[in-house]
Amino acid sequence: MTFNTILQFNFPATVRFGPGASKELGDYLITHGIRRPLIVTDPVVSQLEFLKQIAGDLKKRNLSVEVFSAIHKNPVKSDVYAGTDLYDDAERDSVIGIGGGAALDVARAIVLRINHREDLFKYDDLIGGDVFVTNDVPHFVTIPTTSGTGSEIGRSAIISDDNTRQKRILFSPKLMARIVFADPLLTMDLPPPITAATGMDALTHNLEAYLARTPHPLCEGIALEGISLISQSLEKAVKNPDVASRSMMMMGSLMGGVAFQKGLGVVHSLAHPLSTLLDVHHGLANAVSLPYGMEFNISGFEQQFSRIARALELTTLSGEAVVRYLANLNSRISIPARLRDLGVKEEHLETLADLAEADFAHPNNPKAVRREDFRMLYKQAY
Ligand SMILES: NC(=O)c1ccc[n+]([C@@H]2O[C@H](COP(=O)([O-])OP(=O)(O)OC[C@H]3O[C@@H](n4cnc5c(N)ncnc54)[C@H](O)[C@@H]3O)[C@@H](O)[C@H]2O)c1
Ligand SMILES: [Fe+2]
Repeated sequence: MTFNTILQFNFPATVRFGPGASKELGDYLITHGIRRPLIVTDPVVSQLEFLKQIAGDLKKRNLSVEVFSAIHKNPVKSDVYAGTDLYDDAERDSVIGIGGGAALDVARAIVLRINHREDLFKYDDLIGGDVFVTNDVPHFVTIPTTSGTGSEIGRSAIISDDNTRQKRILFSPKLMARIVFADPLLTMDLPPPITAATGMDALTHNLEAYLARTPHPLCEGIALEGISLISQSLEKAVKNPDVASRSMMMMGSLMGGVAFQKGLGVVHSLAHPLSTLLDVHHGLANAVSLPYGMEFNISGFEQQFSRIARALELTTLSGEAVVRYLANLNSRISIPARLRDLGVKEEHLETLADLAEADFAHPNNPKAVRREDFRMLYKQAY
């Protein structure tokens, strides 16, 4: 390996990881002088027993707790404004995001908005808006309840425009959580289809980060171990979950979130338009696109694929064997093989190719991806 660029590695937030870790939240808040947290979650998680227990435990310890859960499946700007209003009106002093990637993104965007009151999309990283994130942000804690996006340790939030549905990215190192409580017990009852889709998102992060263009041994090492952990545990977590498989998935997902600061690639660019245009869940869109995108990447990168195959403990150390493994894994965990099973129609393919070409993820793909390539990949996957 030749090192001809200057690399940057941003270590994640402090992470308290393990079964029961979320029970430490109360002590942590009290130790840090926090008395009036806003819990940001989604409408489903807000009704789950563990959320009620966490909120109840904080109240028992004389903390004042408000829960904000009125968010969309693909969160929009008005969700963030409504959460910020509650933060103000109820005089909060901190934000605790508890949920999947969607809830954690809204929590992170509220954290930004508290002391940055220009239009939210002025801070869009894709138009250089990160330079306007100059003020302090409130104390921010994350507690993931899916094992997928890795958003708990991330520094960005994906929020859509209410009208156009266009996805905007808010980014700043200031938006990293001060601490993550990663408690696999909170994922024990995650339904099989969500476990499968979010788990494949995590696997995609590790695979794409490992292959992404910039050489980055720290991220690559993390990604390979993430791939290994997920391959050992995802099927079990979907079909017959136990604490061990849920823990390995949560760790693999967290590792994907760390590794993908190196970049993502063609698969995420195939997936994003499926969510924008057809509201397909992010993880499911990645899962279906993954074997096709990886096959596209093989030639010229055989050595990298051979290391991926080793991490997956395959007997044949080739890119083709990796692609076969991924298609097979999808089928074992009941993920459809084709885009038509997600509601995609033939007439969508050209628009999808336009959107994918404009997407931010593929410039880091190991190989250049042209509009023609996206069109071909969507056709293959259709
Ligand atoms: N910030 C980032 O870097 C980043 C990266 C990728 C994706 N995202 C965003 O993350 C979102 C996807 O996140 P996700 O895959 O975690 O899905 P999600 O947050 O949409 O959650 C999926 C479903 O699972 C439910 N759920 C969550 N935890 C549960 C639990 N413990 N038990 C039962 N049900 C539970 C939720 O209510 C929801 O219905 C998308 O909005 C996407 O844009 C962000
Ligand atoms: Fe993702």
